[in-house]
Amino acid sequence: MALLSSGDHIVSTDAIYGPARSLLEDHFSRFGVQATYVNTTDISNIERAIKHNTKILYIETPANPTMDITDLKACAKVAKEKNILLVADNTFCSPCLQKPLDYGADTVFHSMTKFINGHADIVAGIIIAKEKTIYNKLRAMMVNMGCNMDPHQAFMVLRGVKTLSIRIKEAQQNAMKIAEFLEKEPKISWVKYPGLKSHPQYELAKRQMSGFGTIISFGLEGGYNAAKILLNNVNLALLGVSLGGVETLIQHPASMTHAKVSYQAKLKSGITDDLIRLSVGIEDVEDIIEDLANALKKINITGHPI
Ligand SMILES: Cc1ncc(COP(=O)(O)O)c(C=O)c1O
Repeated sequence: MALLSSGDHIVSTDAIYGPARSLLEDHFSRFGVQATYVNTTDISNIERAIKHNTKILYIETPANPTMDITDLKACAKVAKEKNILLVADNTFCSPCLQKPLDYGADTVFHSMTKFINGHADIVAGIIIAKEKTIYNKLRAMMVNMGCNMDPHQAFMVLRGVKTLSIRIKEAQQNAMKIAEFLEKEPKISWVKYPGLKSHPQYELAKRQMSGFGTIISFGLEGGYNAAKILLNNVNLALLGVSLGGVETLIQHPASMTHAKVSYQAKLKSGITDDLIRLSVGIEDVEDIIEDLANALKKINITGHPI
């Protein structure tokens, strides 16, 4: 809202946080702001989507929930050439694992509800601008919109951020082991984790991120029915739409975080019915694996309860 006006256009990663897409599609559109959603893992898609009135290239990397990785440096180059702003949602990494401003982004933001606070007990966000002129616009909007954080929440964030690096280190070690476990499971058809060599942008993730993070997406052979059985049978992993906390959370994006995104848009951006998103916490990794393994035993390959 601070950076766009009626008649402007935005190019966005297609698989972004569901409500961010709904906000653009259902509300910004009412004020004359248009958006084009593309798979930003391919820079040529971005170049093709930019129009004369494009003002912002909006990316989320890794993308929620597909775990696709977008090349920040390449995006910054395109944005500079086209004289548009590069805005990055860095929630999935936190500043601990990825620094978009260093790669040329103009503005970066985080849901601090997630890793930065880390304990799933507040809702908060932060936007960081490289240039003072952009900062001033953002601040004016923030004040007018009443986004000021209350002191207790600010205290909670400051307390949480002190353990950010050790929480992430521990959780991402767990995530790597869990991703490897999932990859070997016959009832699982695919696993997307930036730390796996099978991830299509593994080399880019290695270059751009200082760690592979704690979020894993995977698909079940039995599709939606199997996903439902799995979610109903985990005990340690909690069913929840948040991520980045000390506890392991599991969810089904197509029917939860991205429920409001149209079916066609979901399919086009890879948010399929079989996709499960796991935010790995700092519990004992063997306990998390055992929990998933026990729940998987309840599914047969076609997705019906055994
Ligand atoms: C990538 C991403 N960005 C933004 C948000 C919004 O965060 P909040 O819940 O703090 O509004 C989320 C929430 O899940 C998210 O996953």
